[in-house]
This record gives sequence, structure tokens and C-alpha cells, in this order.
Amino acid sequence: MSEQQVLEKLRGHAARVAGHAYAPYSRFPVGAAVLGASGRVYTGCNVENASFSLTQCAERVALAAAIADGNEPGSIAALVLYTPGLRVHSPCGACRQVMHELMAPGGLVASCCDGESTRIWHGSEHLPEAFSPDALRRVTEAD
Ligand code: THU
Repeated sequence: MSEQQVLEKLRGHAARVAGHAYAPYSRFPVGAAVLGASGRVYTGCNVENASFSLTQCAERVALAAAIADGNEPGSIAALVLYTPGLRVHSPCGACRQVMHELMAPGGLVASCCDGESTRIWHGSEHLPEAFSPDALRRVTEAD
């Protein structure tokens, strides 16, 4: 599948699942779809809570579903998020950090909406100089 085909496929899933978002406080529904190494698609939507800080973002819900199904951390090939409306939005910093750890090196991240514009990032473009699992290696291991 070409990058364009992956994007179109995941976009359809992300747009559908945005319809399931539970976002009564922000009224900002988000849908996300990720492509596992096996070619399977996993979806997520944002799930808010009256205790606001417990809100879960769509991207992290989708990534967690992929991991729960047995995908290896570091193997997720692509993630597309969708927000309704004509403006394209960036994924939040927390989700970028989680993508950095769970997605394949060089993986595709894209954000789309109902308008023409789509933002696309490859690999670590979405989070340059990210905090990485390497940082947690013991000093003796690092030497
Ligand atoms: N949200 C996401 O689902 N993903 C993001 O990358 C940014 C924000 C959700 C969280 C909250 O439910 C709503 O959008 C407004 O912040």
C-alpha cells in the first residue's frame, strides 16, 4: 500500500470513530486510527471525564488498543487523527511522546479534517529530540 492509500484507509476509520467520542466538556471530538505491523487497524476516540485530568486522548486510546492486541512497542507503522471541521489540528505533546515510543522508526503520523489540508510527519519529525527509553539505561549499561 502506498502512503496515500494508508492515509486514506486510516482517515476513514478515524473519521468514523470520532463519532463515538465522549467529549461533553470540550465539545472537541477526535478520532484516531493506527496501522499495526500485521496490517490490522485499531481505533480510538477521546474519552473525557468530569474529573478533567482523567481525559484520554484519541491517539493514546488507539495506540493502547494496538499494544493490547499484541503489537510490539516500536512497530506501529502509521497513525492518523481526524477532527471534524475545516481546520487541521496538531496532536498534543503527550500523544507525540507516546507515539515516539510505540511507533516504528520512520512511521507516518498524519492529521486530517473535513477540509483539503492534511499535515504529515515522518519518524521523529513530530517530536525532535524526544525523551527516549535510552535515557533510563543504568549508568553502568551506558558505559
Ligand atoms: N485531544 C485528543 O484526543 N487528542 C489530541 O491530540 C489533542 C486533544 C482531546 C482531549 C480533549 O478531550 C479534547 O481533545 C480537547 O482538548
